[in-house]
Amino acid sequence: MSRVYVLDHPLIQHKVTFIRDKNTGTKEFRELVDEVATLMAYEITRDMPLEETTIETPVATCKARVIAGKKVGLIPILRAGLGMVDGILQLIPAAKVGHVGLYRDPDTLQPVEYYVKLPTDIAERELIVIDPMLATGGSAAAAIDALKKRGAKSMKLMCLIAAPEGIKLVQDEHPDVDIYVAAIDEYLNDHGYIIPGLGDAGDRLFGTK
Ligand code: PRP
Ligand code: URA
Repeated sequence: MSRVYVLDHPLIQHKVTFIRDKNTGTKEFRELVDEVATLMAYEITRDMPLEETTIETPVATCKARVIAGKKVGLIPILRAGLGMVDGILQLIPAAKVGHVGLYRDPDTLQPVEYYVKLPTDIAERELIVIDPMLATGGSAAAAIDALKKRGAKSMKLMCLIAAPEGIKLVQDEHPDVDIYVAAIDEYLNDHGYIIPGLGDAGDRLFGTK
């Protein structure tokens, strides 16, 4: 069974409150999503392995530590996942970025895949799948399927807000993928929206409603 981490750092929680607020406009919404993504990336990378190296400071030789292990790949689920990419790249600037395009059919709530473009070496990378919203979980589960089908071996899922239903689906279908969220909300309404949630993440990020 995969693990679920709620990233409860006060700065993350504070910013998520303003992201949720319906009076937060597109510009500020984008900025806040970007900032929260950076803070979440800081937490999600806590388990990165380190290795020892030797360097010369201006006054002595010293043993010091650098990040070791696999390189990182970021996989935003289009569209809304795009809003979190730059924030993560602030901390992991050398990460490669692949895109999985999915939209949720408004009637069936099932994900429909329309685009996949990935770095060629995803099998050798530690992937972070990014989407602000984990609602039914259909989109995240389908994106992870698409990545596994193309060779991905190791990944984490990072979302701002999750519904219990979405967490359960991803855990059932992908027990090897740990989930990192800033909040777990109460439930999904009849239209598959997370309650209380933040509304439609893509529309709020891109100003399409
Ligand atoms: C939203 C969101 C997730 C998905 C979550 O995307 O960004 O990808 O819904 O819902 P699920 O867990 O029930 O699958 P949407 O389909 O609205 O597309 P968009 O990002 O292009 O707006
Ligand atoms: N997608 C969104 O953008 N918001 C929700 O609440 C659910 C799915």
